[in-house]
Parts: sequence; C-alpha cells; structure tokens
Amino acid sequence: MVISIDGPAASGKSTTAKLLAEKLSYIHLNTGLFYRLVTYIFIKKNLFDSNQQTIDNFFNNNKLELKGSNLDKVFWNDKDVSSFLSSSTVNEKIHIISNNAMIREKLVSMQRLIGSGNNIVCEGRDIGSVVYPDADFKFFLVADLESRIKRRFIEEKKNNPSLIIEDVRESLISRDFNDTNRSNSPLLKPSDSIEIDTTNMTIEMQVDYIYKLIKQDIK
Ligand code: CDP
Repeated sequence: MVISIDGPAASGKSTTAKLLAEKLSYIHLNTGLFYRLVTYIFIKKNLFDSNQQTIDNFFNNNKLELKGSNLDKVFWNDKDVSSFLSSSTVNEKIHIISNNAMIREKLVSMQRLIGSGNNIVCEGRDIGSVVYPDADFKFFLVADLESRIKRRFIEEKKNNPSLIIEDVRESLISRDFNDTNRSNSPLLKPSDSIEIDTTNMTIEMQVDYIYKLIKQDIK
C-alpha cells in the first residue's frame, strides 16, 4: 500500500506523514531529505556547474542513505549530516537542485527503490504525480501562508534564537514560488488527490482525519 502526501513547505506534511506511518506501521519516506542532502553536498563541494557527466560521477561516487526507524537520519558516505540540512543556505540553493531533471530522475529511482514491495507513507512535492502516480491514497495538504510562516518560525527558532519572522516569510514565499514555477516536476495537486486545508487543524486532527479516511476505505 502506498500513501502519498504532497503540499507546500510547512503545510504539515512531515509531522503528519511520520505519525500516520507510525500509526499504520508503515515506512515513512520524506523525499525532501534527499533534495536537502544533495544541495548540502553541492554547496560543500561547489558542484553547481555540473554537467551530465559530473552528475553521473556524483551519484556513482557518493553514498546517500536514509537510516533510522523513521528514515529521518541522513547519511553522506556513512557520516550523519542530518543536523546540517535545514540551514538557510540549503533553503536558498535547493531550488537549483530540485529543478535539475537529471538529479530528479536519480532521486526518484532511489525513492521508488525504498518503497518497492513495502507499505509506505511517502511525502514531498511530486509523489502523487511522478514518484507514485498509482498510489492507493493521495493527499494534498495546504494551509494559508500566514499560518505556515508562524509554524516554520516556531520550529526554526528553537535552533536559531536570533531568527526573525520576516526572514522566514521571505524564504517561504521564495520557496513556494520556485516549487510551483519550476519546469521540472513542479508542485501541483494531483487531480485524484484529496485536498486537506490544515490552517485550523492541529497535527493530531490531521493525522486522525487521514487515518479515518484510509480505514473507512479499506474496510
Ligand atoms: O519541509 P519542507 O516542506 O520545508 O521542505 P522539504 O519537504 O524538506 O523539501 C525541501 C525542498 O526540496 C522543496 O522546497 C522542494 O524544492 C524540494 N523537493 C522536491 O522538489 N521534490 C520532492 N519530492 C521533495 C522536495
């Protein structure tokens, strides 16, 4: 069984997907982690001028892995780099990686491999449209911009006490723009997905709502 959850940044995908997967005893795959990891390495190694050959070499010579019970620990060549992947530098550059068709193709294959033969809750931007167009259940989470800004601000402030809300606003608006306007696999609501507006919902309400829809349908 495959459950896809797509939606813009800070719409509640990650926490919802994680808790839903736990409730169902399914694998949880946050595909954004792969895009974050590649962006992080490209920044470190200054690889942004890559062509097809260097991208091929990159994937042949680097080990990219998700580990841990929720697949939320990110390893680059056996080193845990999870704590570096939400930085503002990664957020600023990630659109370059996520708009690269070749990189997307490689990452989509890796994502499908993780899901292969497993029950999975998979979240991202293109899950119901590209990675798993035949998913058994497709959800699309949305929330108004102001509540997404507030959520992300509270989340990031814990690790960065000097953060100001205007920076979060700017970053989210720019990521929304890049996600919806890029030429390769832009964020779009699959026509056969169920849209859930999480603006006035708590995480528990979201998880419960989705869980009930799934259970109702597979009775
Ligand atoms: O957690 P948040 O919603 O902020 O972002 P994320 O899920 O970690 O994804 C980070 C970025 O990776 C997104 O803004 C997209 O540009 C890209 N991404 C993508 O292109 N396709 C996916 N399936 C997942 C993420």
